[in-house]
Amino acid sequence: MKSYHSLFVVIEGPSGSGKSTLNSAVSQALEKSNLNILSTREPTDNFNRNLENTSSGEMLYAAFIRDRMWHVINEIKPALVQGSIVVCDRYIPSTLTYQCLEGMDFDKVYSENEKFPKPDLVIYLDVNESVLSRRLDERSELTRFENRDFRNKEINQYKIVMEKLSQKGWAILTIDNDNVSLKDNVQTIVSIIEDIQHQKIVLRS
Ligand code: TMP
Repeated sequence: MKSYHSLFVVIEGPSGSGKSTLNSAVSQALEKSNLNILSTREPTDNFNRNLENTSSGEMLYAAFIRDRMWHVINEIKPALVQGSIVVCDRYIPSTLTYQCLEGMDFDKVYSENEKFPKPDLVIYLDVNESVLSRRLDERSELTRFENRDFRNKEINQYKIVMEKLSQKGWAILTIDNDNVSLKDNVQTIVSIIEDIQHQKIVLRS
């Protein structure tokens, strides 16, 4: 294994934007470079997925926060301490998107999530509404948040969240996941991750 420093990368974007495909392709490419990778996602497998349709507001928010607490303590922090690159599909920006669309206050959600590690990089997958609709319509079962009526609201709220996070100093990389090939996007992301790692190594040495 190479000598390297930990890095926390989050992949975000609306349902159907290709987050899990990109997560596994980026993780595989990084593994080929002989780096230690934790490829993970939220909500975790411990999360009761029925809650998305049976609960809402504060209760659903609390369930996502409990799940994040478990994830951070048991998987994300230990991997970062070992010097791994963590690539996580959905994280705090998802809470700021979906729970704030259901009435939660942005500043309250943001400050309550400040106890969790801040990602070194958030990759936002920009995908056109018509492409999302085509992909989601192929799925047999849709949750409340994947509903056709919800898609434009979801895209608009994501853009607001990315803008606000960038104003707060978060590093956001927007990727066109409609017109650019998976291979090209993976290449761009891997070289940016390598650059950030290099900067971290220079800053710490
Ligand atoms: P997915 O497994 O297809 O990514 O779906 C996860 C769902 O959970 C998606 O509808 C978004 C929702 N979600 C929230 O509402 N808040 C959160 O904090 C997270 C992580 C996910």
